[in-house]
Amino acid sequence: MATGSRPFELRDNDADILAHLGDDYERYEGAVIQPIFMNSLHVTPKDQMDSSVPRRFAYGRVSNPTVDLFERKIAALERGDKALAFASGMAAISSAMLACVKAGDHIVCVENAYGPTRVFIDEFLVGKFGCEATYVDGRELSDFIDNVKPSTSLIYLESPVSMLFKLQDLRAVADFARPRGIRTIVDNSWATPLYQKPLAMGIDLSVHTVSKYIAGHSDVIAGVCVGGESIMKDVHRVREFYGGILQPMEAWLCIRGLRSLGVRLKAHESAALEIAKRLEQHPAVKTVNHPGLDSFPQRELARRQMTGTTSPLSFELNCANADARGFVKRLEWFNVGPSWGGFESMAVVSGGEDSLVRIHVGLEDIETLWDDLKRSLDQI
Ligand SMILES: Cc1ncc(COP(=O)(O)O)c(C=O)c1O
Repeated sequence: MATGSRPFELRDNDADILAHLGDDYERYEGAVIQPIFMNSLHVTPKDQMDSSVPRRFAYGRVSNPTVDLFERKIAALERGDKALAFASGMAAISSAMLACVKAGDHIVCVENAYGPTRVFIDEFLVGKFGCEATYVDGRELSDFIDNVKPSTSLIYLESPVSMLFKLQDLRAVADFARPRGIRTIVDNSWATPLYQKPLAMGIDLSVHTVSKYIAGHSDVIAGVCVGGESIMKDVHRVREFYGGILQPMEAWLCIRGLRSLGVRLKAHESAALEIAKRLEQHPAVKTVNHPGLDSFPQRELARRQMTGTTSPLSFELNCANADARGFVKRLEWFNVGPSWGGFESMAVVSGGEDSLVRIHVGLEDIETLWDDLKRSLDQI
């Protein structure tokens, strides 16, 4: 095997990108893992002091070689020109939006988008910058066609969407928005860059919470935004001046997470689908929401625009909200908490009146997890 840098033309092969993009054995004494550039500053050689060409790495708020390696991997996986890593998923989401809208613009957003994303739109874009927002279900293209205005500059999507996992037809929305000069962003966290490639369907920006599957071990908060060269210049300006770049240690952990993303996802996918099917059969369960189920109303669209499914899923119980809370309290293996995408199984109950429970199926033994769920379901 050659020891030098790999040229990496293989941009359509995710497994090779995950394992090897960015390898540079000669530069790092044959080390298979690139060292962390744990520094804020890169000096400029004095003979280049007067050069008008900006240096690739000068100051850590603008760029860093370890962060850059993580970004190159994500850009290749998403088939984008450029990715930028952020200190959280919310930093990536808010920066992407700030790159697309100006004061007074109108935004169309899916109504079940991740809660803090809606808070950012309502409190900051609407509350402070005089933007206007319309929330739509998003399953029908007409939800967007009927609600855009001359002032609409952004359609914000999340597919599958938090809690209910409803889909939007990414290609159809992009085909509608692009000729009208309306930018599109999709939160692609659920499917990950491996199972859904929004840019290839015409979406302008794909954003992720990297804190979930990509980092994968519940030990990092990070985010990433990826898109074409020109729009990413705008995102870069936001990152530079709002200061939300990811730190080198976290970027290095995200690169480590990527190495096992493919195999982890396969395990989450098969376990979640099996649990979803068993839940459907249990008399205490009214409905199960998971895009991989044959009963999922948008199953055909799920097949068309995703190459796989992951593990957060939700189900409605045949009981009141208080009993749904009791169901979750009785679980021993599913911890209660707001995150997902790690090795460990998680559960949350909807904050509303209904009895909707969302679970993330972790990497524990599937029979252990099912025994836990069934024992608690049987008591409803
Ligand atoms: C779908 C989705 N998008 C974005 C975020 C925000 O990511 P972060 O917590 O990394 O800021 C989350 C976090 O739970 C999420 O579930």
